[in-house]
Amino acid sequence: MRKLVEKEIVVATHNAGKVREINELLAPYGLIAKSAAEHGLPEPEENGTTFEENALTKAKAAMLATGLPALSDDSGLVVDALDGQPGVYTADWAEKEDGSGRDFSMAMQKVEDALLAKGATLPEQRTGRFVATLCLIWPDSHVEYFRGEAEGQLIWPPRGELGFGYDPVFLPNGHERTFGEMTSEEKHGWDGTPEDEGLSHRTRAFALFARQCLSK
Ligand code: IMP
Repeated sequence: MRKLVEKEIVVATHNAGKVREINELLAPYGLIAKSAAEHGLPEPEENGTTFEENALTKAKAAMLATGLPALSDDSGLVVDALDGQPGVYTADWAEKEDGSGRDFSMAMQKVEDALLAKGATLPEQRTGRFVATLCLIWPDSHVEYFRGEAEGQLIWPPRGELGFGYDPVFLPNGHERTFGEMTSEEKHGWDGTPEDEGLSHRTRAFALFARQCLSK
């Protein structure tokens, strides 16, 4: 397992919610971390069928364009009653039909409609998880992956204005509030130490990354 000794990396995502959360997680480590958007990079097309493939596509594009180590995040919502959908297509479910961007209210409604079509009305029929795969690629193409998952239930109607994406319909196990009702510190649920695993999928993947590659 390789340590990250470089002082500057590129955060290979254009998703503002992910950039904010990853920067919060990176803050204690004193790295310079600009996003792909801040570097003016185009958003690569993601046509993989796994979180790992898409994470590699994004990290590799950013590393090749900047010459810096690149950290990407590919993530999504995996719903058991929907045979794992939307999964790697979680962002696609939010694409507006006229191609003018993403609408997560519509995307959450699609998930709800699909659950109702399956007759999934009881909490135990509405289980799922958020998955995040972080990929770190160095300029010599060495790659490491870190995967985190957060188990929970899909609730309806959506609750909370915090967070991003599908946060308002995701109730993590053992909690009374959705990710959309949690501050980012609560959603991370991480004290920043290697012993603690954190709450959100992204934080759990990040904790693995920090444990293996970073030192304070
Ligand atoms: P991708 O990784 O760019 O394919 O997009 C993943 C999609 O999953 C995002 O557009 C979000 O809608 C959703 N997603 C990933 N992580 C989270 C999260 O922490 N909260 C809510 N939605 C998320």
